[in-house]
Amino acid sequence: MKTPNIIAIDGPAASGKSTVGAILARDLGYLFFDTGVMYRAVTLAVINSDIPIKDEVKVTHLAETIRIDVNPPSLDDGRAYDVFLDGCDVTWDIRLPEVNYSVSPVSAYRGVRLAMTQQQRRIGMRGNVVMVGRDIGSVVCPEAELKIYLDASIEERARRRLIEVQGRGEEVDYKETLDSLIMRDRIDSTRTIAPLKITEDAVVINTDKLSIEEVVMKVKELIEDV
Ligand code: DC
Repeated sequence: MKTPNIIAIDGPAASGKSTVGAILARDLGYLFFDTGVMYRAVTLAVINSDIPIKDEVKVTHLAETIRIDVNPPSLDDGRAYDVFLDGCDVTWDIRLPEVNYSVSPVSAYRGVRLAMTQQQRRIGMRGNVVMVGRDIGSVVCPEAELKIYLDASIEERARRRLIEVQGRGEEVDYKETLDSLIMRDRIDSTRTIAPLKITEDAVVINTDKLSIEEVVMKVKELIEDV
C-alpha cells in the first residue's frame, strides 16, 4: 500500500474538516495544512487596518503584502498550530466573530485567492500533507491522489459550531450561528472563482451520524484503497 502523497479534504464550514484532517495528519506523520487560516489572517489584517471590506483593490493589495506563517503549536492552549500575521501571534484572533462574518467576502476576491493559492500550492506540492479547505481538490492541488468532500446538514454543522464557540467562552446562540453558516455557505459556493464544489473524483462522506473517529476510520479505509 502506498499512502497518497497529498490528501485533499474539502467541504463547507463546520463539516469537521479541520478536526478530521488534524487527526489524520498526526496518525500518518503528515503535515496538516488548514488553508482557511490564511483567508482568516487576511480578513483580520483588513479589520485591523482602516480598509473597508468592500474595497477589493486595497484588500487585495494588503493580501499581497502581509506575511502569514503557520507553524507547529508553541503553546499548550488547545491550538493545533500557531498562526502569525506579520510576526504577531493571531492564532485565536482569527476565530473572532467579526472574522467569521467577513472572511467569506474577502476570500471571494480574485486577487486575494491568487495570492493565497500560490502559497498553498507551493506547500502542498512538497507532499506528505493533509490539506483542508474549499478548493484543494479543484484548484490548489487537483493532482491530489485522494480527494474527500466532507458534508453534514446545516443544522448539525450549526450545532457543532455552537459547541466549539461556547467552549471558548464566547456568547452566541443557535439561531445566530445557523444564520452565519447559511450566509457563508451561500458566498463560498456561489462565488465566481474557485467556489466550493464536489469534484467528480472526490469521495463524499456525510458526517451527520458519524463520530469523528468513525470519519477518520472511513478516510483510512479509502487511503488503503488508493
Ligand atoms: O474553513 P474555514 O471556516 O476556516 O474557512 C474560512 C473561510 O475561508 C471560508 O468561509 C472560505 C474560505 N476558504 C476558501 O475560500 N478556500 C479555502 N481553501 C479555505 C477557506
